[in-house]
Amino acid sequence: KQPIITVVGSINMDMVTVTDQVPVQGETLIGERFETIPGGKGANQAVAAARLGGNVQFIGRVGDDAFGKELQQVLQQEGISVTNVEPVTHSSSGVATILLSENDNRIIVIPGANRHVTPEYVERHKEQLLASDLVLLQFEIPLETIRYCLDLCEQAGIPAIVNPAPAQNLGEDYWKKALYITPNETEEKELDLDQNQEIAQKLIVTMGERGAKFTENGEEKLVPSYKVEPTDTTGAGDTFNGALAVAISENMSLQQAVEFANAAAALSVQRFGAQGGMPTRDELEQFIRKSREQS
Ligand code: RIB
Ligand code: NA
Repeated sequence: KQPIITVVGSINMDMVTVTDQVPVQGETLIGERFETIPGGKGANQAVAAARLGGNVQFIGRVGDDAFGKELQQVLQQEGISVTNVEPVTHSSSGVATILLSENDNRIIVIPGANRHVTPEYVERHKEQLLASDLVLLQFEIPLETIRYCLDLCEQAGIPAIVNPAPAQNLGEDYWKKALYITPNETEEKELDLDQNQEIAQKLIVTMGERGAKFTENGEEKLVPSYKVEPTDTTGAGDTFNGALAVAISENMSLQQAVEFANAAAALSVQRFGAQGGMPTRDELEQFIRKSREQS
């Protein structure tokens, strides 16, 4: 039986303004173009996992606006089960305002309906959660919901991957309930998670173009990333996490899983949009094969 990956997380519409330069305070600039494209860390990770062949179900919420319907459809078209994605009445969908310039992106997230992914909401969909083989969490939904999910996972013996983005402190007891914790470098510094031995061993830190590092048997390992020309790095971390979830659910070794996730992220940054460029399984395997031949 194919393992079930459940993402409990956020769904946003990304409002992307592409510009050469970012304005300073009080300044007005003419930018290049504007696009609305699906995003949200939860949705992005779910899409990344589904494209790679994962059997993915989503627990989350959209608003009762036009974006909500579209966002739900997008997930469905990717083959993700959205029976547990309910609209919230009188709420906007989550939106992210993104300023994308060369080598930089700046994002403001308005959670909207994602604020309503409460512990009570997850409890209503508990059966689905408990049917999972792996759970994937990010921090764009309330922290108490993350804690609730981790408690449930622990009780049921379901492994959970926690992507602490954006960085917030979950509390020592809760970090310990995760199988892996996947901050980027900035988040890792902010959270100071390597202070605790037990928690430090769970860390997989993503470092952009330099790859990712983790500790195995007390030894630090660096898995370098693949060299590519980036177009848009938005969602690179999400692609990494979605791919990592698929690899772990298939029982790859940690080293292999991180390589797999690095490759997926490298491919994703070559196309515009968080979900644009996320590879299928075939694309990924071909890319890994080619890179091996070249090295
Ligand atoms: O990680 C990238 C995502 O962060 C974007 O899609 C945006 O929605 C923000 O949530
Ligand atoms: Na992309």
